[in-house]
Amino acid sequence: MQTKGIILAGGSGTRLYPMTAVFSKQLQPIYDKPMIYYPMAILMLAGIQDILVISTPEDTPNYEKLLGEGTKWGINLSYKVQTNPGGIAEAFIYGDEFIGNKQVCLILGDNIFYGKLDFLRKAIENNTGGTIFGYSVNNPSSYGVVEFNENWEVISIEEKPKQPKSKYAIPGLYIFTGDVVGIAKNLKPGPRGELEITDVQLEYLKRKKLKVELIGRGIAWLDTGTPENLIEASTFIHAIEKRQGRKIACLEEIALEMNFISREKFIETVIQLPNCSYKDYCLDVIK
Ligand code: TTP
Repeated sequence: MQTKGIILAGGSGTRLYPMTAVFSKQLQPIYDKPMIYYPMAILMLAGIQDILVISTPEDTPNYEKLLGEGTKWGINLSYKVQTNPGGIAEAFIYGDEFIGNKQVCLILGDNIFYGKLDFLRKAIENNTGGTIFGYSVNNPSSYGVVEFNENWEVISIEEKPKQPKSKYAIPGLYIFTGDVVGIAKNLKPGPRGELEITDVQLEYLKRKKLKVELIGRGIAWLDTGTPENLIEASTFIHAIEKRQGRKIACLEEIALEMNFISREKFIETVIQLPNCSYKDYCLDVIK
């Protein structure tokens, strides 16, 4: 089944002010690339080639300028403006036409994953309603939190609980079948005045169509909402890239590896890049 991808890259980014006074959060650098490259890389590595970027009225033109139509990476990018930060679940309302009745994988523009992505490819293949992930963190109350019984069945899902019932946070990466559009349209705003992604998950749970897959220690999941998160993510990416001599989230390299583009198209794209270490790296890839 063809799966569509959405990157939600709006929001207010208040916790990163004044960095976000002019540029949106997902354009901020994570070491050597704009933040949005990382979630884009994840969708591409999951085999997704049709991707919608949703952002604010001010920032959407910047994403269009940065990413274009995606042809150089062998993908098809489209854009939609979210007029107000009315909640993560709004992605499915703004994505209505784009999704059609296809399955969709939503990733938040400030979520970074690093590691073997088999868990995601499998989840996309096996999803029959909603699939979300659980990841052990030491600050679960900053996230949606999922609680299990002794048979690992979901008992509760709570958004940013003051007293979390487990240490399993739900990362900003979700897979839903096409009926998610109808579900999102029927949601009422929660106490924060937003359409909550938690309520979408609860609806699938009610329908007995929600899977929660635990992601283990082999995967790093970082979010980049605060200045401290930002420097930690940059340091993490820098350390791995320096040690391995391989870049994380180099979209040209991923496009080539995924066979989204030919070797000729790769060379044609890379030659046009300005002189920089990113270009040098890409030139090395073809050697
Ligand atoms: P948050 O980090 O919850 O919110 P924010 O980005 O507005 O930042 P802050 O709390 O500092 O004000 O958002 C998570 C992700 O979802 C982030 O990538 C922004 C995106 N988002 C939207 O695009 N639209 C929305 O309506 C909301 C709530 C979030």
